[in-house]
Order: sequence, then C-alpha cells, then structure tokens
Amino acid sequence: MEKKIVIGSDHAGFGLKAKVTEHLEEMGYTVIDVGTDSTDSCDYPIFAHRLCKKIQNGEAPLGILICGTGVGMSLVANKHKGIRAACCSDTFSARLTRIHNDANVLCFGERVVGMGLAFDLVDNFLGAEYEGGKHARRVGMIDAIENGTFEE
Ligand code: RB5
Repeated sequence: MEKKIVIGSDHAGFGLKAKVTEHLEEMGYTVIDVGTDSTDSCDYPIFAHRLCKKIQNGEAPLGILICGTGVGMSLVANKHKGIRAACCSDTFSARLTRIHNDANVLCFGERVVGMGLAFDLVDNFLGAEYEGGKHARRVGMIDAIENGTFEE
C-alpha cells in the first residue's frame, strides 16, 4: 500500500500528533497534516471531516485521528461514506481492525494512551493487511447499510 497517510487532531491530541507524525516519517511515510496547529481549543469534527475528505478524494489510503479520547473523532469519521474508523487503545484491536474490518482510519486519545502505546497502535495498524474472504462479505454489509440497500 502507498506509504502516504493523513493525520489530524484537535487541541487535546495536538502534542501526540506531532510525535506520531515524526514516528511515521521515520517509518518512511509521507504525512499530510490537516491540523490543528496549536493547543488552542477547537472543534474535533472540523479536523475529522478534513481528513475524511482527503481519503475520499484518494489523496491517501489511510488516516490517523487523535483527540482527547479518540471517540469523538471516530464518531465523526464514521459519518463519512467509505470511511471505517476504529477507536483503539490496545494493539490487538488496532491490528485486527485492518485484517477483519478493513478499517481505513485509526483513532486514539492522547488522554488515554501514552506515546509508546500510540506508536505501537500505529505500527500494528499499518503493519497489518486486510484479509478479505468472509470478511469482505461483512464489510460489504457495512457498505450496504451506509447506502440504504441492506437486506437481512
Ligand atoms: C476535548 O476536550 C475533547 O472533548 C475531545 O478531544 C475528544 O476527546 C472528544 O471526543
């Protein structure tokens, strides 16, 4: 997969965003940063929306969103067509959400995880590949629900 990634945060995730960006660059990723650019209070939906637009436009295949908990970011991201955002604070989920759910956005909270765990979450997410097969049927159901065409 293309080594390009979008990253975004609100004020509560700003410090960790800087560190995760450095980590990604050390891994050889080109990082597109959609803000925020300071610890001044701001609204997380703006940055989640900016990031999702970039993925929808094909500017990068994957994204990382950081706020205080990661939850607000994931709620907003999952309102966007084609976006499957997973809020994770353990490495098993961060890996499996790529393999089983084909998640394209990883969310976590600076007030929840430390820098070391954040790096491990990123490594597990990016190091895993979507498995397809029976999982494709289930991901297809998510798409159908999103499109209003789902039937049991
Ligand atoms: C900001 O105080 C906080 O609400 C936000 O970063 C996030 O945790 C929301 O889900």
